[in-house]
Amino acid sequence: MTIKRHIASPPIDGKPLHALIDAARIACAQAYAPYSRFRVGAACLAASGRVYTGSNVENASYGLSMCAERAAIFNAVNAGERDIVAVALYTPTPQPVSPCGACRQVICEFGDAIEVIAASDGDSVTRWTSGELLPARFKL
Ligand code: THU
Repeated sequence: MTIKRHIASPPIDGKPLHALIDAARIACAQAYAPYSRFRVGAACLAASGRVYTGSNVENASYGLSMCAERAAIFNAVNAGERDIVAVALYTPTPQPVSPCGACRQVICEFGDAIEVIAASDGDSVTRWTSGELLPARFKL
């Protein structure tokens, strides 16, 4: 597996990396995407070591649809987690995709050094830090 790093970021490698990607892939099976037919799974690793998953859930009123990454983060936060270490997303595509802008803002809410990992059915994995994905984000 080739790993493309956009810049040096704190590594999650080996077994924990593959376990997180597997969790995102498994979560993708629960996606509800009858409109776009684009399924996404995500898995969020908290500092506690627990993993929280999510998938995209669409709605007939398209704008109400929820992305996989935000579903995973919200699951973690609702379980009491605040220290988010990494978020992996999986799409059944030939190449990894990167998180949408809304998900970037939500991931960055919990830190600029969160590892974001994108995996697909191809053999490359793309990694960024949350701060790389959304520099100069909105902050209160
Ligand atoms: N989607 C995600 O789940 N995550 C992203 O980062 C981008 C897009 C979902 C939303 C919608 O259900 C489908 O993919 C097509 O946009």
